[in-house]
Amino acid sequence: MYVCHCNVVSDRHIRAAIAAGAVDVDGVSDACGAATVCGGCVPTIEDLLAEAAAAIRQPDLVGLRQAARRGGGHRAPVLPAAAVARPAAG
Ligand code: FES
Repeated sequence: MYVCHCNVVSDRHIRAAIAAGAVDVDGVSDACGAATVCGGCVPTIEDLLAEAAAAIRQPDLVGLRQAARRGGGHRAPVLPAAAVARPAAG
């Protein structure tokens, strides 16, 4: 599906940009050109960034649950930079 109609950028392009390391809207813009004209696609790009961040965090939640069942401690999860989505400037 097209997310950025101004620049004809699909969700596949945006997911690929996120997988390649884009962690915020500016990073996605730099990678694929989305969100550089009207900005109408920014909320959807933010949703895709949040979705990717949640997918990355999920394994850490499994580890926390397993540690809690064992009664042992568990280190705080260290999230990769791709899991931290910053709000768009502006
Ligand atoms: S829809 Fe993406 S910049 Fe206009």
